[in-house]
Amino acid sequence: MQFIDLGAQYRALKAEIDANIQTVLNSAQFIGGPQVAELEENLAAFVGRKHCITCANGTDALQIAYMIAGVGPGDAVFCPDMTFISSTEPAKMFGAASVFCDITRDTYNLSPESLERQIQAVLAEGTLTPKVVVAVDILGNPCDYDAILPICEKYGLFLIEDAAQSFGASYKGKRCCSFGQIATTSFFPAKPLGCYGDGGAIFTDDDQVDKLCRSICVHGKGPGGKYDNVRVGVNSRLDTLQAAVLLPKLNALGSYEIDARQAVAARYNAAFSGRFIIPFVADNCVSAWAQYALLAENTAQRNQIIAHLTEKSIPNMIYYPTPQHALPVFQNEPCYTETFDAANYYCAHTFSLPMHPYLDAEQQQMIIDAVLEAL
Ligand SMILES: Cc1ncc(COP(=O)(O)O)c(C=O)c1O
Repeated sequence: MQFIDLGAQYRALKAEIDANIQTVLNSAQFIGGPQVAELEENLAAFVGRKHCITCANGTDALQIAYMIAGVGPGDAVFCPDMTFISSTEPAKMFGAASVFCDITRDTYNLSPESLERQIQAVLAEGTLTPKVVVAVDILGNPCDYDAILPICEKYGLFLIEDAAQSFGASYKGKRCCSFGQIATTSFFPAKPLGCYGDGGAIFTDDDQVDKLCRSICVHGKGPGGKYDNVRVGVNSRLDTLQAAVLLPKLNALGSYEIDARQAVAARYNAAFSGRFIIPFVADNCVSAWAQYALLAENTAQRNQIIAHLTEKSIPNMIYYPTPQHALPVFQNEPCYTETFDAANYYCAHTFSLPMHPYLDAEQQQMIIDAVLEAL
C-alpha cells in the first residue's frame, strides 16, 4: 500500500502521459516548449486568474513572491505556526523576521485573531515594519479569506496565498490560487497536482507582477532578452517534460480526482467521527485533501496508533511534528505574547493516513480497521 499511490494514477493516465512525453522527446525542445505555455494558460483558467507563471518548485515560487513584495531587513512577515518551512524560509533568507501566528482549532489554518494580535504587537514594539502575510491552505483546506483579506487591507499588507497543498480546493466558489496579490503552488509529486519531479507556479491578476515574475525567473532578463539583465533574478523554470505530464493530470484533477478525494475523505470521516477529532471543512469550501489528518486523544495514543499502523505496513505520516516557532532555525524570531496553544496541541496529536483519489473502498477499510484495532 502507498501513502499516495502515484503508480495507480499513472496507470489510469498512461496513454496520455506517455504520448505527451513522446511528443516532447520527438521535438527535443526540453526548455520552454509549447506545452509550458499551454499549461500556464490552462492553470490560469482553472483557478480563475489572469496570469500563471510556472517555475522550478513551490519554494522558488514563494521566494519570487517575497522578492516582488520587496521583503528585506527590518520587515515582518506573518505566517501560520503550523506549516512547512518553505512558507517562511525566504523571510530569513532576505533578512526579515518571521512572525508566527497561531492556527485556528477547526481548520488548523492561520488564525485571523492571532494575526491581528501579532500585527499590533509588531506595531506597538516599533522596530519591525509589517510587510507580508503568507496564508497557507494547510492540508489542502482553504484559509478563511473573508477574515484575512480585510486585515491585510486594514494594515496595508501584501498577501501571498501559499496554495502548495490546495490546488483544486475552493473557498466560497473561488478556487485556491486566486487569493492575494500573488498565489503560489507546488507540483511536487505528492501534491494534489504533482508532476514527475519538481515544479511550481505563481499566479497573479496584475500585468506588472506577471512581467516581473517572468523577468526574475530568467536571471532578471530585460526587454532585450536573457542577456539584457536588468535586475537580480534566479533561474527557475518548469521543464517541458513536466508540463507535458501535468497537462493530462490537470484534466483528471478537474474532471474526477477532486470528487474522488471527497469520497475518500467522507468514508474516513464516517469511520472516525466520535473517536477522533476529524477534519473540518467550512461551509461552501472544498478541500483538496492533500492530507487526511486526525487528532488523537493524546500524544501517547497517537504514537501507539502510528506504531500499530507501521507494524501492519500501513503507511502513515505526521504533518507536522514541530510548530515553526519551535524549530531550531527560528529560535530567535520574535513571538511577542503568543503562546501558540492551538499549533502546539495540533502538532502533538496529529497523524495522517493514506489519502489519494485512487484509494479503493477495500484498501481503505483495511486502514480504518487497523486504526480502530490500535485503540
Ligand atoms: C505549504 C507548503 N509550501 C511550500 C512548499 C514548497 O514546495 P516545493 O517542495 O515544490 O518547493 C510545500 C511543499 O511541501 C508546502 O507543503
